[in-house]
Amino acid sequence: MRLIITPDAEGVAREGARLVADLVRARPSAVLGLAAGATPVGLYRRLVEAQRAGTLDLSGITVIGLDDYLGLPPGHQAACRTVLERSLLAPLNLPEARRHLLGAGDPAVACAEHERAIAACGGIDLQILGIGVNGHIGFNEPGAAFDARTHQVALAATTRTINRKDFAEGEPVPSAAITMGIGTILEARRILLLATGASKADALAAAVLGTVTEAVPASALQRHADVTVIADFAAAAGLSS
Ligand code: F6R
Repeated sequence: MRLIITPDAEGVAREGARLVADLVRARPSAVLGLAAGATPVGLYRRLVEAQRAGTLDLSGITVIGLDDYLGLPPGHQAACRTVLERSLLAPLNLPEARRHLLGAGDPAVACAEHERAIAACGGIDLQILGIGVNGHIGFNEPGAAFDARTHQVALAATTRTINRKDFAEGEPVPSAAITMGIGTILEARRILLLATGASKADALAAAVLGTVTEAVPASALQRHADVTVIADFAAAAGLSS
């Protein structure tokens, strides 16, 4: 694993955007796997700014969504699909045919179609991930099998509690989701794991330095040959001892 530690979330966004930009310049038709959540939004904003400034051409990329809740109405503000569309895909005006997102339709059909879409575009060149405080990647919660493909999952209580903030008061947080499995994630040619804030420090340390175990889903990344971790000082606090 390569580790880039930078003072703050803005630095994480800057370093992450630089890595993505280098990849896309070398391969304009790159296939990018995209996490939602708060962490990568600054990176996505920088990509949009670079495209607008004419310093980067993202018009040829294909995107693959990492995960999404089940049961949310179309356009729900917390849906991963909405986050990705709002922060990156709509501003880039990326054609629908090159957006493969989860979060709509029959779950079993959506899972199978997602795997087919990934294969049809030749696999993922770079998978962008965040990390949950419980060590999840995508919505692969502790205990998830390392060889799983895109599948339906039950969300951990911790995840539902933390993500409560993204929902209106009194609105139920979904209990189910679809996620690319860890097996699918590990097939990406490169992986970029982003982490910001003190709440991620324990999970990041366990993922990077700890035992490889299904109890810490992100520890599976130790089995991948090309992982870059970009963390701010707070999230990297457990890595220096
Ligand atoms: C979101 C996702 C999750 C998040 C993780 C961190 O698509 O797959 O694994 O990356 O929960 O979320 P944030 O970035 O909101 O702290």
